[in-house]
Amino acid sequence: MLEVKDLHIYYGQIHALKGISFAVAKGAIVALLGNNGAGKTTTLKAISGVLQPREGIIRLEGQVLNGLPPHRIVSLGIATVPEGRRVFQRLTVLDNLEMGAYARRDGEIAEDMERVFALFPRLKERRKQVAGTLSGGEQQMLAIGRALMARPRLLLLDEPSMGLGPMLVEQIFETIRDINQQGTTILLIEQNAAMALSIAQRGYVLETGRIVIQDTAQNLQQDETVRKLYLGEEVT
Ligand SMILES: Nc1ncnc2c1ncn2[C@@H]1O[C@H](COP(=O)(O)OP(=O)(O)OP(=O)(O)O)[C@@H](O)[C@H]1O
Ligand SMILES: [Mg+2]
Repeated sequence: MLEVKDLHIYYGQIHALKGISFAVAKGAIVALLGNNGAGKTTTLKAISGVLQPREGIIRLEGQVLNGLPPHRIVSLGIATVPEGRRVFQRLTVLDNLEMGAYARRDGEIAEDMERVFALFPRLKERRKQVAGTLSGGEQQMLAIGRALMARPRLLLLDEPSMGLGPMLVEQIFETIRDINQQGTTILLIEQNAAMALSIAQRGYVLETGRIVIQDTAQNLQQDETVRKLYLGEEVT
């Protein structure tokens, strides 16, 4: 579904992505792992059209995305849950969700709102509340819900577990799996490699702008380097 080929991104002189290639198959959950500063968010920004690649190509079902502005990419079916769960702080939950549907012209927005409330009942209870006063976990739910309101075919998630307690992390990952089972393909950026690999089929490990390991999630869970560096295990 998504194909990224030999992608190079620069911030001025800084060569942040040094020719990365990967693919996300339709219907899959693919994990993009890596430490701080590896280039995960940069990759996501390139796919969503916020950053333009100097070299390389990004395709969605064969269509080249290079050069398209972010709103066009949303209307082609790619929605993003940005790092740090940015929601519109002064708007209510309902208004935030409606903003997520801005690119749509169809009449099924109310239906999708119900679907978001079914995934996150907490948001329904708090639909009139101003987003800035939601807890961190609730804001993450809202950020995911807002992205779903675009009815994406491909959902990009940037560290959804960041800053959340273990119970909520479990719940968010279960919901990500549900969203996938309802038909949305997912690219999941995470530092929490253990959780990400538990729901993904395939994973890529990014290190200072290069993909250094790629394999099935199952193999990555067994891989010694991955276990040592990213799963926090002592490998003897
Ligand atoms: N706007 C920017 N200007 C200059 N350099 C940047 C900018 N944004 C990111 N970088 C650099 O690009 C590299 C990759 O950053 P990126 O945000 O993609 O990392 P990341 O893998 O998402 O890390 P984290 O897990 O900490 O979020 C880093 O060295 C970072 O300092
Ligand atoms: Mg990041």
